Amino acid sequence: MIRIDLPRFDRFEGWRDAARQLVGAGVTPDRITWADPDTPADLFGSDPMAQPNDAPVTATKDFLQLARTVSSHSDPERWALIYTALWRAQTDRAFLGNPADPLMDRLNRLAKSVRRDIHKMHAFVRFHELPSTGNRRSFGAWFEPEHLILQAGTPFFAKRFADMDWLIATPEGIARFTGDRIAFDPPAPRPDLPADASHGLWQTYFANIFNPARIKTNAMRSEMPMKYWKNLPETHLIPHMLADAPRRVQAMRDAGASDAPQFAAKVTARIRQQPQDTPAETITQAQEQAARCTRCELCHDATQTVWGQGDPDAGLMFVGEAPGDQEDLAGRPFVGPAGQLLRQTMTQAALDPDKAWMTNAVKHFRFTPRGKRRLHQTPDKSHVEHCSWWLGLERRFVAPKLTVALGATAAFALTGDRSPLTPRRGKVQAATDGGPVLVTWHPSLILRLPDDRAATARAELLSDLRHAGQLLAA
Ligand code: URA
Repeated sequence: MIRIDLPRFDRFEGWRDAARQLVGAGVTPDRITWADPDTPADLFGSDPMAQPNDAPVTATKDFLQLARTVSSHSDPERWALIYTALWRAQTDRAFLGNPADPLMDRLNRLAKSVRRDIHKMHAFVRFHELPSTGNRRSFGAWFEPEHLILQAGTPFFAKRFADMDWLIATPEGIARFTGDRIAFDPPAPRPDLPADASHGLWQTYFANIFNPARIKTNAMRSEMPMKYWKNLPETHLIPHMLADAPRRVQAMRDAGASDAPQFAAKVTARIRQQPQDTPAETITQAQEQAARCTRCELCHDATQTVWGQGDPDAGLMFVGEAPGDQEDLAGRPFVGPAGQLLRQTMTQAALDPDKAWMTNAVKHFRFTPRGKRRLHQTPDKSHVEHCSWWLGLERRFVAPKLTVALGATAAFALTGDRSPLTPRRGKVQAATDGGPVLVTWHPSLILRLPDDRAATARAELLSDLRHAGQLLAA
């Protein structure tokens, strides 16, 4: 075995330099032990590495970015996984761009978990003011992330708090900022940080954003997981605020509704303005009308209406939720990662994607901007209801023998049933317009699930699509 010792910080660069040489020397993934700083020494030492040849190492920019993110994960297997991906890319470059490949899928999940942890760090670091001798104020924080994100997560604080000196101590190490750069030191015992006036501000802020009429404890737990609570000054307010919520809601009910401001009626009227089109006589006319749709506010931010695609004489219709980022840009449904997974599974189930009609319950992309990215948001009930006009027209013109509802939004749009999907999956329900609807998972759910559950859900999707093929043939 060849042992590669990685440094505590700048470890991605350490991996990248070693990986380049190892690939160049033809070292297969199973011959390498990747050792983090605290990995015990190897009793048998390390084999020597052959001289690398000069052949260039193939890797896409996106893959290197993904590998850099994965390198911050706490899974000890991560180095071997990214090396295996790099190794495979030398003979099969296309696989780096295939999110449905199990290895790429696993790497994407690891990266997602790291990004989430960094996001939580940005939200949950709470600084305490420290005594300062110079003219800059000085702050310190203790934070316990799930992964090794000290280096990846702290540049954000250098930008946001450039005018103060700060340190963030974690079990992984300490980041110190003194105005020009962030320096990283190995871990030290948890510092004793003084209580601080800003903690009162956090409590006031939290008490003010807490809405007693919209308590969703699962969403709260997912936004503010309990593992972070012990270091947050505001969390001890939560039990009391939850207990007091029914009384506050009753007080709001007793106070009655206030009138909407005058401008609200005008805005609503403008947004709801229906296109004055004559009834569509063909699916192409319906598509042209949908391209000008202003039935709900989603049309303002989306790039374009994403109409269905495929064979308009198809016996089989697939209905998803709504276009995603890539579909919005391309103007075609199911061209992104979920679409690739769907098409692949259809092919496995002997269904030809080009011989089906593929569409969505909602025709405009709904998202929240986050920096340069647009984060997908599930459409609301009202979006589905406004768009049911277009789905209804598509269904009238295509007149499928069988419709497959991908996920809860599609199942609701087609059947009007909003009950949980799990007991309905794999079953046939009646559409509100009369045809049979086979309910199954949405492929993007499968892409979000952890590995073990994703494999099961994917097998279920495949079995449902095979079932659809049988129903269609019968
Ligand atoms: N998800 C959907 O529901 N539809 C698409 O077109 C793409 C992703």
